Amino acid sequence: MEKEPTSLETIVSLAKRRGFVYPGSEIYGGLAGTFDYGPHGVALKDNVKKIWWRQFVEGRDDMYGVDAAILMNPKVWEASGHVSGFSDPLVACSACKKRFRADHVEGDACPACKKVGTLGESRQFNMMFATKAGASEDDAATVYLRPETAAGMFVNFKNVVDSFHPKLPFGLGQIGKAFRNEIAPREFIFRLRELEQMEVEYFVRPEAWKEAFTEWQEVMHTFARTIGLPEGKLHELEVSEEDRAHYSMRTIDFEFDYPFGRKELWGLAYRTDFDLAAHEKGSSQTLGYMDEETKERILPHVIEPSLGVDRTVLAILTSAYTEDELGGEKRSYLKLAPAVAPVKAMVSPLLKNKPELVEKAKEVRKALQAIHPAIAWDDNGNIGKRYRRQDEIGTPFCITIDFDTLGETPGLKDTVTLRHRDSGEQERLTIAEVIERVRAASVY
Ligand code: GAP
Repeated sequence: MEKEPTSLETIVSLAKRRGFVYPGSEIYGGLAGTFDYGPHGVALKDNVKKIWWRQFVEGRDDMYGVDAAILMNPKVWEASGHVSGFSDPLVACSACKKRFRADHVEGDACPACKKVGTLGESRQFNMMFATKAGASEDDAATVYLRPETAAGMFVNFKNVVDSFHPKLPFGLGQIGKAFRNEIAPREFIFRLRELEQMEVEYFVRPEAWKEAFTEWQEVMHTFARTIGLPEGKLHELEVSEEDRAHYSMRTIDFEFDYPFGRKELWGLAYRTDFDLAAHEKGSSQTLGYMDEETKERILPHVIEPSLGVDRTVLAILTSAYTEDELGGEKRSYLKLAPAVAPVKAMVSPLLKNKPELVEKAKEVRKALQAIHPAIAWDDNGNIGKRYRRQDEIGTPFCITIDFDTLGETPGLKDTVTLRHRDSGEQERLTIAEVIERVRAASVY
């Protein structure tokens, strides 16, 4: 049976209760558009980033990783078009003083105070956060918090070419924070003011862009499968010319069915030579590439897969959340792909007041931690409750050490029960078999 769509409130509440995501600066009443990741959220997010890095950067011979500074020379943003063009249309209400994105307002009534005729003219509002670099107010320069990580790769194109002499096609990849002064941050970690991106700028000969575009499209689908996003919830949207960013000749949005509707998850764009040409002009440096084969200097074109970390985490959480009935009781659990699960397995002694069980369970946990450190320990309350706690954070396996593990029943020495999260079923396996299961499920 098709499961009921999960409400966003259910996810927000689970995320806070179980230490995935907390509201930013919560004890001071929060700060719109900011969220803090708690222990399980950090682990989940870190798994997503590691898998991305493996599949998009370190697992390929044609990719180079960088980690550029968030603060960049302001000329970068003039050249990239962000100073003049990275803006949203904004209207302000003269009665309640609230501001809204012009394209989100219907009719002539203020969406907040409902007064009619109080909304002013639409103005362009630049979404970059500006700050001052330098101690003195007079000569301090205005600098911006980067609104995308991409620029850090374009300005390092020449550095990487000079240090590594790569042959086309090759790319730069980077994971990092970006900042956007969104007028209406909303839907939990979907639209943030402080966000994290995983981006690739892949440089190709101009005539080879279509091939590279298709290749990265496939890499994105492989990544979606590895992190456990259901295929049926992922959709590609060919973005029309009028909706594409100023630099793009083709864009595909990867959209996802969130509880609040089908929305953009990731983007794949063909940026032509827009950026290298703009930075060549802005910096007066030669950013062309000397083609060893043709002995000609060319300006490579760029394919850009751009993936938001936070939107990915939200897609994972909302699609993994499942409610069912197990043993006559209602339960909720996260059906996470083991590769992204914050905890890979939980080890438990059947009774915590039996030192020989505890000692054996610790031994099993240590052996499992040698293959992955994220192995939890729980000896609190009855076994059923321990399982439910792990179900809610998406731990794929629970391992229980009992008297048979110690050899009480002949033939069962050094065997344990392995309980599966999704079915609740249990198997009796040897410790060596359990270690192998956990290893196989945690690799990607
Ligand atoms: N370098 C291209 C670029 O930044 P974008 O479509 O503006 O393109 C890329 O952003 C991705 O970054 C989006 O697909 C989304 O995953 C994420 N993203 C963008 N704005 C965001 C926001 N305000 N909050 C959370 N994620 C955001």
